Amino acid sequence: MAERVKKIRVKQLQLGMFLVRFEGAWLSNPFWTSRFLLDNPADLAAARASGVKECWIDVSLGRDVAGPAPVLPAVRGTPHLVTNRQKTRQSLHAPLSMDDELRNAAKLCGTARHAIVAMFSQARLGKVVDLDVCAGLVDDIVGSVERHPGALISLARLKSDDDYTYMHSVAVCALMVALAKAMKLTEADVREAGLSGLLHDIGKAKIPLDILNKPGALDDEEFATVKRHPEHAYAALLHGGVSEQVRQACLHHHERMDGNGYPAGQSGQEIALLARMSAVCDVYDAVTSDRPYKRGWDPADALAKMISWKGHFDPKVLASFIEVVGIYPTGSLVRLKSARLAVVVEQNKHSYTRPVVRTFYCTASARALPPELLNLADAEDDCVSGPEERQGWPTALIEKLWAGKLAP
Ligand SMILES: [Fe+2]
Repeated sequence: MAERVKKIRVKQLQLGMFLVRFEGAWLSNPFWTSRFLLDNPADLAAARASGVKECWIDVSLGRDVAGPAPVLPAVRGTPHLVTNRQKTRQSLHAPLSMDDELRNAAKLCGTARHAIVAMFSQARLGKVVDLDVCAGLVDDIVGSVERHPGALISLARLKSDDDYTYMHSVAVCALMVALAKAMKLTEADVREAGLSGLLHDIGKAKIPLDILNKPGALDDEEFATVKRHPEHAYAALLHGGVSEQVRQACLHHHERMDGNGYPAGQSGQEIALLARMSAVCDVYDAVTSDRPYKRGWDPADALAKMISWKGHFDPKVLASFIEVVGIYPTGSLVRLKSARLAVVVEQNKHSYTRPVVRTFYCTASARALPPELLNLADAEDDCVSGPEERQGWPTALIEKLWAGKLAP
């Protein structure tokens, strides 16, 4: 008697098949349950986009791979299906608290790091990038950014020396998603933007590690080697189903509006939109991150400097980016009218000058205060009087304050 239950590739799934379970789910099964009749095109698309490679089907309850579509048996009690996208929408309706989102983002950073390390290792060996894994990762990052843009963006800024390149990919992905949403791109283009951020530096897998991780300045020859990474990325992404739009973003993320960038010296609108967006997100994350040879800039200083670099960035894209990270970016220090110092922990969409902060120090009494979360949009008698110099305050303290009780 033929096997009732068989393992197939998720790519082979068709409407009319009865799913029993998914094999080797990456971040999560795309559905709350696996046992159901696949009779909805949206569920089929979600299964194919889930990043899961293989699944089990019951051919006595549904269609077989090669066989004709059977007359489907009535399946009682078919569970109610909830796809990842629906899960995301549900969570939007019931948003997580900032602290819960930070927990979620911390977990996501850990998972993403493993996935990106593997991706770089494969690229180093000349293997094709697994688009399913990348798409699953981008989906989860989109979900987190939709709920609390500041959580993942700020968390991914905190990098150790070892994982800089990997966490930079996560950070740029999250920034690209948030920027694409602020620029009102379509849902599909938001994901393309995220994927561009995730993959923009994949060409660095081809750069010798001693050059890539060299503490201090590179000599001319080393710099010329590093500058080839966009072309390496374009070549590495030739196969595997990555769109030309994403490949172009990776190839041109170091171009400048005035034509002084590389590799092609493109200028103005000649540079693809996703590449102009990548340029902003890439530089912002790079200059605000601590490196072995220099301390990261305060986010507010970084924005001020980026605005002052004429001819570097697309001004419209940069304006949208400022909308995303805020005038007082998450993670920056501010001084309040009440003479208290605070760390910005979250933006207020409707009032960029009144973020959510965590107060920790009184400059009038020169004393530390018990950390207190304060939403300045609700504080009638207090507001930001200006940015505060980050110098002198230990990074670890700021991170702890920003992350609240989550700090490890
Ligand atoms: Fe780059």
